[in-house]
Amino acid sequence: MAETVTLHTSNTTMVLNVEKGKQPKYVYYGAKLSDYDQQHLQTPRNGRMDAYPAYGMNCPAEAAFAMKHADGNMSTELYVTDLDRQGDITRITLKDPQYPISVTLFYKVYQEEDMIETWTEIHNGEAKPVTLTQFASCSLPIRRGNVWLSHFYGSWANEARLVEEPILPGEKVIKNKDGTRNSHTDHAEVMFSLNGKGQENTGDVIGAALCYSGNFQLKIDTDDTEYHYFFASINPDNSEYHLKKGETFTTPKVALSYSQAGLSGVSRNFHQWGRKYMLAHGNKERKILLNSWEGVYFDINQQGMDQMMGDIASMGGELFVMDDGWFGDKYPRKVDNSSLGDWVVDKNKLPDGIEGLLRDAKKHGIKFGIWIEPEMANTVSELYEAHPDWIIKAPKREPVLGRGGTQVVLDMSNPKVQDFVFSIVDNLMTKYPEIDYIKWDANMPILNHGSQYLTMNDQSHLYIEYHRGLENTCKRIRAKYPDLTIQACASGGGRANWGVLPYFDEFWVSDNTDALQRIYMQWGTSYFFPAIAMASHISATPNHTVFRTTAMKYRIDVAMSGRLGMEIQPKNMTDDEKALCRNAIKEYKGIRPIVQFGDLFRLVSPYDKVGLASLMYVNKQKTKSVFFWWKTESFQNEHLPRVKMAGLDANKYYKVHELNRIDLRPMDIEGKSFSGAYLMNHGLEIPYRNEPEYAKKNDWSSRVLLLEAE
Ligand code: GLA
Repeated sequence: MAETVTLHTSNTTMVLNVEKGKQPKYVYYGAKLSDYDQQHLQTPRNGRMDAYPAYGMNCPAEAAFAMKHADGNMSTELYVTDLDRQGDITRITLKDPQYPISVTLFYKVYQEEDMIETWTEIHNGEAKPVTLTQFASCSLPIRRGNVWLSHFYGSWANEARLVEEPILPGEKVIKNKDGTRNSHTDHAEVMFSLNGKGQENTGDVIGAALCYSGNFQLKIDTDDTEYHYFFASINPDNSEYHLKKGETFTTPKVALSYSQAGLSGVSRNFHQWGRKYMLAHGNKERKILLNSWEGVYFDINQQGMDQMMGDIASMGGELFVMDDGWFGDKYPRKVDNSSLGDWVVDKNKLPDGIEGLLRDAKKHGIKFGIWIEPEMANTVSELYEAHPDWIIKAPKREPVLGRGGTQVVLDMSNPKVQDFVFSIVDNLMTKYPEIDYIKWDANMPILNHGSQYLTMNDQSHLYIEYHRGLENTCKRIRAKYPDLTIQACASGGGRANWGVLPYFDEFWVSDNTDALQRIYMQWGTSYFFPAIAMASHISATPNHTVFRTTAMKYRIDVAMSGRLGMEIQPKNMTDDEKALCRNAIKEYKGIRPIVQFGDLFRLVSPYDKVGLASLMYVNKQKTKSVFFWWKTESFQNEHLPRVKMAGLDANKYYKVHELNRIDLRPMDIEGKSFSGAYLMNHGLEIPYRNEPEYAKKNDWSSRVLLLEAE
């Protein structure tokens, strides 16, 4: 058997050479090949094209896979024994000629979305346990040239910052070791721009996302050959895995997409694939909500919740979410130093219980949601008193404590803990089936290594088993409550990853709700995640994190580019602010399908520091679009670029209507029509300042334009 395996999507092709007794090799990944071109491919030169290089027979080269066999041998050889193609899935089975170890490489093709998912199954047929020390999901050689990397870094309140850099010789490692959450700092997604610094709407780009919620490692190694070697993996550090006889280890998937339409082109592929196959309820419009956190923090009480529900209902909102602070009996949750684990209502704060809250939500005609942090406990809690053995801590040592000086992480590798976590949601939903939404938080990393459940021999399984336990629990919840909306929150944007999103409807982008900084964070987030999944809330000023005061219109215009919500105490808002929000919610309902299901075209990046940022969403039929334009700084007599639009139909005529207008006079373009060609080749002049009445002028300017084809 010597076969050329060709994987086609609508616009891309991947070719692998699969020959029995040899290592499978990449031959091509790029724009779609014609039949003729497929027959006449040149074999790549001066690179190691192995699809899954194993360690031991060419030690200096980076490997995707390394293990210690039962007899102590550290080397592995993996040669093709079988090829199986069924429907969208291709399986290539590799075996070691000396040891009964097999590795199956999977490739799954998503035609329309130009996506190829790849992952690996490692099977131990040896008589005794073997130890896996490296177990990448995939490896991909990328031809050198002027290849640039786009990736994301950050921290709490500053998530998903975009960084763009050329790939130079040496090794670049992007990783996470948080243990519970994995997207505050580095992100498990990267793009490679193959022809110089990435452009939004032109150029060849490969995007890769490791669909995993735990510790990860993305490595790009550039040596003396003609290729960069990309590896995406569960982070193997302190995670060697003992695979018993007869067991199979399945790696997480990597989703790969190639586009000739630049960075935004790859983003659109990920958004489509994500909405259709990954994200929970990716085809269902999201409700407009008010979350209580920045409005009242821990100061929860029945009257206060009723008032907030009334206020959001009066502004047109559809859902109210009660955040932290509602629970604890023996230890009521007053601040962040107690009660996690005790998921019973604090009757002093809420004498009518959750029943009372649901009653009030019904009275106001909105839905009700609730905050929980199920994977955690405080040492000050009834749960900890009953089950000190359920927490993660190093053997023979005191637990290292987190938030509030008392927080601990529950050991999700323990099936009893999984049952408990499941029961938190199950109890709430059994008693109160009208609960519509759960905000699932996770506010602590694994600080100390140790499971009280795993054997001493298998302590190195902790990180992996934690995430298996989390996933199993999520699967159980979804099997029983398929319609529930669940937000993934983790001290803000700690869980923006494609590992958890099959079980969650959205994620909280950041605890930082400052509109200006959100432009940067949401920009980075949008590379791999669709707007429908990005919770984006209007909050008070001075902002509670950065203390900046921006205009209400600006805050609205930024929040409306994602899944719109509010994070504010409405009773402190002026009538004028309430009127602006009421109008914005009405306008958002009109554009919600375009923002939440449309194609994203990023136009001007805030990271390019030209004084503004701009992007647009276009519906599938190219008949409706929403254009966002935000100034990122303000100077007198400044010069801002005119923004060329993208993604429209050149031959259609689009009528312009400004949303969220505060100016006394409409813009000169209001109600006028322009051809798609003109809008994309030239663009519109947007006045640099909003011009409301004098007393309302400020230095924050933004515009939202609705374009409708005639
Ligand atoms: C985390 C979340 C916030 C809020 C608090 C509650 O920080 O990111 O949105 O829910 O916890 O304690």
